[in-house]
Amino acid sequence: MAKAKTAYVCTQCGAEHSKWQGQCAECNEWNVLSEFVVQPAKPNAVATGTRRGGYAGEAAGAPRITPLTEVLLTAEARTNTGIGELDRVLGGGLVDGSVVLIGGDPGIGKSTLLLQMLGTLGATLPSLYVTGEESLGQVAQRAQRLDLPLGPLHALAETCIERILEQASSARPRVLVIDSIQTIWTEMLTAAPGSVSQVRESAAKLTRFAKETGTSVFLVGHVTKEGGIAGPRVLEHMVDAVLYFEGESGSRFRVLRAFKNRFGAVNELGVFAMSEKGLREVPNPSAIFLSAHAGPTPGSAVMVTREGTRPLLVEVQALVDQSSLGNPRRVVLGLEQNRLAMLLAVLHRHGGVAAYDQDVFVNVVGGIRVQETASDVPVLMAVLSSLRDRPLPEKTIAFGEVGLSGEIRPVPNGEERLKEAATHGFRRAVVPAANAPKRGRVGDMEVIGVERLGQAIDASRDA
Ligand code: TYD
Ligand code: MG
Repeated sequence: MAKAKTAYVCTQCGAEHSKWQGQCAECNEWNVLSEFVVQPAKPNAVATGTRRGGYAGEAAGAPRITPLTEVLLTAEARTNTGIGELDRVLGGGLVDGSVVLIGGDPGIGKSTLLLQMLGTLGATLPSLYVTGEESLGQVAQRAQRLDLPLGPLHALAETCIERILEQASSARPRVLVIDSIQTIWTEMLTAAPGSVSQVRESAAKLTRFAKETGTSVFLVGHVTKEGGIAGPRVLEHMVDAVLYFEGESGSRFRVLRAFKNRFGAVNELGVFAMSEKGLREVPNPSAIFLSAHAGPTPGSAVMVTREGTRPLLVEVQALVDQSSLGNPRRVVLGLEQNRLAMLLAVLHRHGGVAAYDQDVFVNVVGGIRVQETASDVPVLMAVLSSLRDRPLPEKTIAFGEVGLSGEIRPVPNGEERLKEAATHGFRRAVVPAANAPKRGRVGDMEVIGVERLGQAIDASRDA
């Protein structure tokens, strides 16, 4: 077999160099060259260790063009992990031969979740937990504290990918957990573990292993300050699914969200609560993101957001305060930053309410991240309420998108959102006119349909 070569690739422009140098000769950027392994092209498709069939097309020789009607439709083999909320995020269970990347802040519960999953899988699927961060003792202690059956759990403290794959090839686990990918290194490179090239090359080897043997692989990934998974973006392209674990350090609730999933829907949420006995599922999470105020509070609004396939009631809080800065602060937690600037501009232009001399802080309660535009109306209502220092009418919910010309646009699944709010005892809903039922009521809840920003502002005053 031809020997693998190393090349130095510019992480900015992608130019390839045969030697390391401080500056990229193509784009003139400094310190951007990273070492990569160049695999020699293989004339024959690899068919090593095709324990469960491997890649059908590859093993059967040269690929050929096939009408899709001739493709054998075999449903992908799925196993329930025993943790319903995790299965939901994975798109209905664990797929054989899939590679799943789980990212999240340190201490959020990635290791705990995966260990619990291996514990509940137990003897159904033989597994291997590879730890590069904690000692075997620490892993065993955690498993014991979580009351997991220790018998079926096998762990390996190793960080060299070649040795990990050697062990995995002989132990033949069906599920392999790598905790974490940033600690893993390959003998083929001299770069330090955690560097872009090491992470990429190790992940590539693990992906190949998963596809060739049908083993399901979970990679734990650290998250950078910018919120992405540390390491190259290619990591996200290589794997089948990318899940993020989110939550506030002060709160016990944790949200697992799919950002990419080749086997299911994205933006599906799984909700957990951290307890002394590890992560507990929260199968009915619709109202946990409301904070318990004794009475009506200025600056607080409740929205009905729909993440994945479930409606959630989430409180959004705003604080608007006279700014002493020339450039007032706009700080958002749990929502998109640019969206707030846009909403404030619309509020000024079409609502006649100015906030250019005010600091505006907006926070979504419970550490959850809301990505849909249905949060626009409730965010503006919370801002208005804080600006006026007057609470919104009691037991009010809102949702709806705000357009640049001050129109309120409908959002999907309005009826389902309204029903959920009515079930939780809300009495008043401010929603896009197109989402409001003709009768103006859902159960005991009055529904006010609005078409323009001005109407939404009027509806957020006490009657
Ligand atoms: P961990 O799974 O180690 O996080 P990660 O792998 O994402 O870094 O989670 C550790 C945190 O969870 C730690 O702060 C303690 C807490 N925890 C509990 O509250 N209860 C438990 O049963 C366990 C195992 C951990
Ligand atoms: Mg960990």
